[in-house]
Parts: sequence; C-alpha cells; structure tokens
Amino acid sequence: MKILLTGGAGYIGSHTIIELYKAGHSVVVVDNLVNSNQEALRRVSKIIGEEFPFEKADIRDRESLDRLFGQYHIDAVINFAGLKAVGESVSKPLEYYENNMNGVFVLLDVMRRHGCKNIIFSSSATVYGDPAIIPITEECPKGQCTNPYGWTKSMLEQVLIDVQKADREWNVVLLRYFNPIGAHESGLIGENPNGIPNNLMPYITQTAVGLRKELGIFGNDYDTHDGTGVRDYIHVVDLARGHVAALKVFENRNEISSQRDEEKGLYIYNLGTGHGYSVLDVVKAFEKVNGVKIPYVIKERRPGDIATCYCNPSKAKEELGWEAQYGIEEMCRDSWRWQSQNPNGYESL
Ligand code: NAD
Ligand code: UD1
Repeated sequence: MKILLTGGAGYIGSHTIIELYKAGHSVVVVDNLVNSNQEALRRVSKIIGEEFPFEKADIRDRESLDRLFGQYHIDAVINFAGLKAVGESVSKPLEYYENNMNGVFVLLDVMRRHGCKNIIFSSSATVYGDPAIIPITEECPKGQCTNPYGWTKSMLEQVLIDVQKADREWNVVLLRYFNPIGAHESGLIGENPNGIPNNLMPYITQTAVGLRKELGIFGNDYDTHDGTGVRDYIHVVDLARGHVAALKVFENRNEISSQRDEEKGLYIYNLGTGHGYSVLDVVKAFEKVNGVKIPYVIKERRPGDIATCYCNPSKAKEELGWEAQYGIEEMCRDSWRWQSQNPNGYESL
C-alpha cells in the first residue's frame, strides 16, 4: 500500500516509515517540521536504502494536501501530525485545539474528496483519564482529561467515530499508545525533544549524558509497589509495527473476527506491553543495562499525574496478530544508544 504519513518526520513517524518499508509498503511524508528535523528523514532513507517523497507543509494547508492526493495514489493515511507537549497545551490551549483539531478536519475533508477513506489516528492512553479498570481494556470508559492536549485526542476520536458512523465506507483505526520510549537499534534516529524534556525517558537519557544535573521524580507516595508512578512503556519499534499490523483492517476488514456487521469500519486498540514499571524500576533498569548512574531527587507530585496506567493489549493480539516483542531492558539500551551517539539530537551534525 502507499501510505501518507502526516507528521512523519517526528519520533514515532520516523520509526514507522522503516517498519512500513520492511513490510513492503511505500510512503509519502508530509510534515511542517514544527517539532522535528528533516535530518531524521535523511537518516531513515539511509536505514531503508531508499528515497521517498517528503513535502514540507502544514496539514491545515488544504491546497498542499490536495496536490499530494492528486499526485500520488494514496491508499491510507496515518495521522501523526499534532502538537503533543502537555504543559504547553495548558498555557496555549487555543493553539493546541486549532492545530490538532483543524489539522484533522482539513485532512478528513481532502481525503474524502479524493476517495481515500482509510485512516489510522494516533491516540493516547490519556483518553482514559484516571482509568476505571486496571489493566485497561478498550471497553474501559473514557475519562476526564487533565489538559487540552488530552482533550484534542479524546475529541478527535469522537470526530472520527462520527465520520465513520455517517459514511460506512470509512475505515477508522484509533490506536491508543501507552508510553513510547526507545529508539531504532541503529542509534541513528530517536526522540529529540525541544528544550527541557517533559517525559521520563528523555529526562533520564539527558541526565545520563550530562545535559541535566539530576532527574526529579514526581512523587514517591503513590499507591504503587515503591510509591512512584507506574506506566506501560513500549518500545517505539514495537509501536511502529503496531501500525503496520493495523493496515490489515484496510486490506480486508471482514477478516477482523469479533465484529458485528454494523460495527465494521471502526477499530480501537491499546498499544502497550501490558506490563507496568514504576519510575524507580525504569531508573534501575537503565542503570543496570547501560552501566551509568542516574542521580535523582524526589519532588512533589506533578499535577494531573495518576498513580498507575497499564493496559491489557490482548485485543490487538487477537485481531491484528500484533504484540510487543521488546522488554524494558531493550527500551533502556536503545534509548541510551541514540542519546549517547547523538548528545544534541539531530543538531549535532
Ligand atoms: P512528534 O512531535 O515527534 O511528531 C509529530 C509531528 O507532527 C512533528 O514532526 C511535527 O513537526 C508535526 N506536526 C505538528 N503539527 C503539524 C501540522 N499542523 N502539520 C504538519 N505537521 C505537523 O510526536 P510523536 O511522539 O512522534 O507523536 C506522534 C503522534 O502520536 C502525535 O499525534 C502524538 O500526540 C501522538 N502520541 C504520542 C505519544 C508519545 O508519548 N510520544 C503518546 C501518545 C500519542
Ligand atoms: C505524559 C502525558 C500524556 C502523554 C504522554 C506521552 C501528563 C500528565 N501526561 O504521560 O498525556 O500522552 O506523556 O507524551 O503529562 N516522571 C518523573 N520525572 C520526570 C518525568 C516524568 O518522575 O522528569 C514520572 C511521571 O510522574 C510519571 C512517569 O514518570 O509517573 C511517566 O511520565 P511521562 O513520561 O511524562 O508520561 P505520562 O505522564 O504517563
């Protein structure tokens, strides 16, 4: 299939291109590079040994999208494009709603005009809020998000559900990612946050490489085995492969066994490993695998954080034949290989 990846120059998108090529697909990438660097795409080309089309454009720019759909026969879209910094979304809600929501509105409209009605949407475990069930299944009710970023995911899921309900020709796949970390085993591509990282693993790797003095652990009084927050970390390469597996829905949706006819066309999957690791578990695993020390201090809880979040990933296994292959040690090893080989991310060249 030929897949249009919006936001394909970013962390998850760049890894997904590789897995798509390995599975025999080809891609067209559109990204406005607001949170990424074209160097990532050059390195992906090096890894796959092939060039692929890239358009520097904003997905809110209807003319650019229209041109791309006219130029290429696109079978399906994976929409990674979006702003994702939780803290920034609290201080710039309008910018987040405008970018993330309008981007998808324009994209969906251009897609249907060109008769392309297959989309995979990057959603997040954040839509479950403080989850009602642990481990979280897809049947777990959605919850209250604690920030505008989370609401854009939750609302866009609803938009996509409504679009599919109104026109059953659409195939909509909502992938709820848990906590992606790790990097491609080559060490050539990885996560490259702007400024001070918000997320745990980039903060750990930047501490290990000497860019940060120490890790702050946000609370050690949660109701978890060691008091620190528990999450379902997933290797980004496993996550990327989850997208390849989800393409099965577009190839033959009748093969997806568990659905009744009136439900065909809408598919929701958790992508996680099903294992929960605490902040201290991750720090210890990182130190052990990589032989480096991570100095840390305990800080106040971070507003909006929950104690425990991990999923039951069995639906994706049963219906898509996908399950995560890598464990926490490989995630720590590959995160460190990327950071230690590229201390300043893509800027180091
Ligand atoms: P990323 O920021 O690395 O990638 C997103 C890409 O989208 C960037 O390259 C950015 O330049 C581009 N972009 C943003 N707005 C755009 C627009 N209007 N037009 C064109 N390009 C635009 O983020 P990522 O970690 O690769 O995440 C990919 C997707 O997965 C995002 O939608 C994110 O919200 C979602 N997600 C990420 C995580 C995570 O932990 N990384 C978890 C759950 C969901
Ligand atoms: C966060 C976002 C979530 C988003 C996800 C992926 C919040 C509240 N949630 O999830 O919406 O989908 O990132 O981008 O921001 N931690 C520390 N010190 C740090 C950083 C993190 O102790 O410097 C702890 C956190 O308290 C948490 C765990 O590490 O217990 C994981 O944090 P993080 O990587 O930010 O992911 P989430 O909070 O799960």
